[in-house]
Amino acid sequence: MKKNVKTISYAVFGVAELDKPLKQLYKMAQASASSAYAPYSKFPVGAAVLLNDKTIVTGSNQENAAYPSGLCAERVALFYATAQYPNQLVDVVLVYVPGSKKPASPCGSCLQAMAEIEDRYKQPIRVFMTNDEWVIAVESVNALLPFRFGKEDLFDN
Ligand code: THU
Repeated sequence: MKKNVKTISYAVFGVAELDKPLKQLYKMAQASASSAYAPYSKFPVGAAVLLNDKTIVTGSNQENAAYPSGLCAERVALFYATAQYPNQLVDVVLVYVPGSKKPASPCGSCLQAMAEIEDRYKQPIRVFMTNDEWVIAVESVNALLPFRFGKEDLFDN
């Protein structure tokens, strides 16, 4: 048996340290959290996606009485972005959770959706996880989902 190690690197810093374009993205994710429809979890989330041409697309979580029918903020924004701007590469996904103790990671399903977009456009997506105070940032979805399932894993690819 051979043991392997994968390490990840991530940055932690204050919201005040975000540069101007990222601060704008943060503000848009913040504003977007107020359109969350989260009557069941009472956990609003805002997401903002920055495309290579600087277009910003936002999303918020949209829940449903049939719980699994709802969708996270990240996928609301990402699927809108790739549907509306299929030729634009995705540069950044920023997630904001108001009032949370620590910046939350996107869920596994959102990471899987982001991984597909990285593979599709062959460009790493920078992910910024934020709350009212802090930012945790990674350079690629690989850091959060080091063993992704991708199209190369399908038998008949
Ligand atoms: N949620 C998101 O929108 N994004 C995340 O990164 C984590 C979870 C939503 C799903 C659900 O509406 C609520 O937060 C509680 O899980």
